[in-house]
Amino acid sequence: MKRFNDLSDLSTEEIESLLKLASRLEHEPEPRALEGKVLSLLFLSPSLRTLASFQAAMSRLGGSSFVISPEMSIHGLEARPGIVMDGAAAEHIREAVPVIASYGDVIGIRAFAERRDLEYDLADQEFENLASLVNVPLINMESAIQHPCQSLADWKTMNDLDIPSQGGRFVLSWAYHPKALPLAVPSATVRMAAQRGMDVVVLRPPGFELPEKIMQDASRLASENGGSVIETADRREAMEDANIIYAKSWSSTSNYGDHTGDQDLRENLVDWCVDEPWFESARKDCRFMHCLPVRRGVVVTDQILDGPRSIVIQEANNRMKAQMAVLHRLLKG
Ligand code: CP
Repeated sequence: MKRFNDLSDLSTEEIESLLKLASRLEHEPEPRALEGKVLSLLFLSPSLRTLASFQAAMSRLGGSSFVISPEMSIHGLEARPGIVMDGAAAEHIREAVPVIASYGDVIGIRAFAERRDLEYDLADQEFENLASLVNVPLINMESAIQHPCQSLADWKTMNDLDIPSQGGRFVLSWAYHPKALPLAVPSATVRMAAQRGMDVVVLRPPGFELPEKIMQDASRLASENGGSVIETADRREAMEDANIIYAKSWSSTSNYGDHTGDQDLRENLVDWCVDEPWFESARKDCRFMHCLPVRRGVVVTDQILDGPRSIVIQEANNRMKAQMAVLHRLLKG
């Protein structure tokens, strides 16, 4: 493995093998496995979990890491191609990225979408431009439509809790948020649950349908793995016998890049805040998932987040364990 970018680049067997490695490293630690190895972490977008869990994962395997982000006292970075750099930015990513990559044995890059053009973001063009500047193993730490580390950790979390794959019902629900958010997590999550062979329901209000390309990819993965994918705006129907509700807000796809249009659509949707009545038709033991960070009282109530349904802390903890396996596989084969 030279690149960890899209979970579905791996077969289902390869994903389960990575998770077996994660479990082995958890129970039989290898504190010198990556001794002398260096992980470069380039954060062009903010983070708490991804930043901390990658540094912890690398340390636990005996390696080291360094972080570069625009908030540090680095030179201002320019990303536009063909620009005459007579403004504030003193360094172009065309030099900065290969230099950062050259100091390590593996590099992780996070770069959120600018969300101006849906087709551009669906092609993950921003991330691919950065990836083309790197000649060491590469980890996508979240781009316009990918978040493979989150998906691997979420898959592990469901395995740990014996949530059924085939026959398990997974509801990916849009939730209210005052701002338009990226498509990376919902895009990665719907495909992850489909590849795990689950019966996936995307629950969303009109205007927030996931892009057709993402739904087609998810449907293909589901049919290859014994699952299914449907989309609905009907909460009760979606939640019928659900094992999991995974809440996440995302941008309106019908008003992508149109701030006013997006705000107009979402302003009447504040009741899309996950609360106990949502679970009426679900399985009694239906669990609540979220990638974090989450806005309490906006996306989900305190009662759910602090109650027995919530597995958000396990998910976040599994980020470190899953990433240990990814680093081990990338650097040791
Ligand atoms: N879930 C996740 O990626 O968290 P951070 O944005 O804090 O890294």
